[in-house]
Amino acid sequence: MTLIAREPVIVTEQLCKRYIGADFLAVDHLDLAVEAGEIFGLLGPNGAGKTTTAGMLTTRVVPTSGRARVAGVDVLAHPALAKQFLGVVSQSNTLDRQLTVWENLYFHGRLFGIGAAPSRSRADELLERFQLTKWAHASVYALSGGMAQRVMVARSIFHRPAVLFMDEPTAGLDPQSRLALWQILQDLNAEGQTILLSTHYMEEADQLCGRVAIMDHGRILALDTPENLKRSTGVDTIVTLKATGDLDVLSKNLLERVAGATHARLIDQGVELHVAGAEQLLARVITEAEASGSRVQDLSVAEPSLETVFINLTGKELRD
Ligand SMILES: Nc1ncnc2c1ncn2[C@@H]1O[C@H](COP(=O)(O)OP(=O)(O)OP(=O)(O)O)[C@@H](O)[C@H]1O
Ligand SMILES: [Mg+2]
Repeated sequence: MTLIAREPVIVTEQLCKRYIGADFLAVDHLDLAVEAGEIFGLLGPNGAGKTTTAGMLTTRVVPTSGRARVAGVDVLAHPALAKQFLGVVSQSNTLDRQLTVWENLYFHGRLFGIGAAPSRSRADELLERFQLTKWAHASVYALSGGMAQRVMVARSIFHRPAVLFMDEPTAGLDPQSRLALWQILQDLNAEGQTILLSTHYMEEADQLCGRVAIMDHGRILALDTPENLKRSTGVDTIVTLKATGDLDVLSKNLLERVAGATHARLIDQGVELHVAGAEQLLARVITEAEASGSRVQDLSVAEPSLETVFINLTGKELRD
């Protein structure tokens, strides 16, 4: 018996994009391998190259150089074939406003070569699944942001794609709709759906993704499970201090004098301090703050997040 090793469902090799007129690479020699069954996260700030990466993988953006395959299909050589294997939920509402909710699904099926009867039943089934049956014949205009997002997810999986690409799917959603969408993605993944999720919400990447690639300036700076990424910082405590006085001096002194402090930065009316393995930390922080001429108004501690990882890697915040 011959075993054929199956390649990862997404593979990129030295994939690059330079937009016309730009003097930098929006995506810079990207090597990526996403396995079937993963929720894989691209986490990065504005302009990191997340949408451009997803755009090249979904045939919307033409690469400048390098290669990319989705479900074994070279997306540059065979874009039409590749499209059969991918589902896309983009950053903006791309539902057809001329059509009802149901028609948006039905015609998607027809466009993908699915017959009329199976397209009808699949549209019904997906509306039911996403609790949208009541809205089947409504205009797209009648939908809230969260409902529109659910219709787009329903449409994206209509043709049972090998990979679902979701670009900042919860941007602009209220917290409740965001949680509902997270649940939908987790359910889909539990059924085996591979998902590539791009986001600049660290909580989203942390909660949903098995592995996360941290991106900036078109490059992957780190790639691992959220746990390993957080552990890799060596930081175990984040101290957030709200204080009066000269915060520049405070920040500098805390970094120099608190044992285990690895990083300090100014935040709104205070300082955030990253610390690795310090004892008697809070007492020490308060003592040093007072010695620096600051009065502490509020003090809290937290565990490191993917934001901590990003700050450690780049010296800047994920959100600007
Ligand atoms: N169509 C375009 N033409 C020229 N430059 C572009 C185009 N699209 C993106 N860029 C540039 O390429 C870089 C990467 O942008 P991209 O949209 O891929 O980032 P992103 O990570 O998706 O950011 P965001 O979080 O803002 O969506 C940025 O510097 C952006 O200005
Ligand atoms: Mg984007």
